[in-house]
Amino acid sequence: MNIDIIYESKYGNGKKAMMYLETILRKKGHSVQLMSVHDIKPQSLPEADLYIFSAPNAFGKIVRSMRKFLDKIEIKNQSAHYILVNTCLNPASSQDKGLEQMEEILRKKNISKLSEGLKLKVIAIKGPLESGYEKKLDELAQTIQSSLKK
Ligand SMILES: Cc1cc2nc3c(=O)[nH]c(=O)nc-3n(C[C@H](O)[C@H](O)[C@H](O)COP(=O)(O)O)c2cc1C
Repeated sequence: MNIDIIYESKYGNGKKAMMYLETILRKKGHSVQLMSVHDIKPQSLPEADLYIFSAPNAFGKIVRSMRKFLDKIEIKNQSAHYILVNTCLNPASSQDKGLEQMEEILRKKNISKLSEGLKLKVIAIKGPLESGYEKKLDELAQTIQSSLKK
């Protein structure tokens, strides 16, 4: 199936994670396009069956560039799904609303959620990603695989 991964990444941590996810999804036989939120217009997203949006938090919210991008996206494929990834300092924080905000925007769009969003912890503002992030992404890829078989 066709998968678009669209990311925002200030210091490269989210990008690194999405490049890893791209590799494993390709190995599973999917056609994957990886794009920065800055390299594509939200109104001309390439059609896909699954969209993966990944972005960091800033001051408790999802970073502005991704919020604006999601606000403007137009999904043409009626049966498209999405999955969210959020890089953050403290995945357990109830004050940070990054994932929730992204979901709220997408609720108004013509797209449904494939599985719960994934929070990936960074050790400090500039990273690195916490050890074991690859395993979490392996599991996400596995979830994608099994959801598709249903
Ligand atoms: C100005 C600024 C504000 C930030 N605010 C938050 C925050 O509220 N919550 C949080 O978890 N991380 C916050 N961070 C850290 C980001 O989560 C972290 O820089 C990002 O996840 C790193 O991923 P990236 O390299 O893909 O950008 C902030 C970072 C910056 C630069």
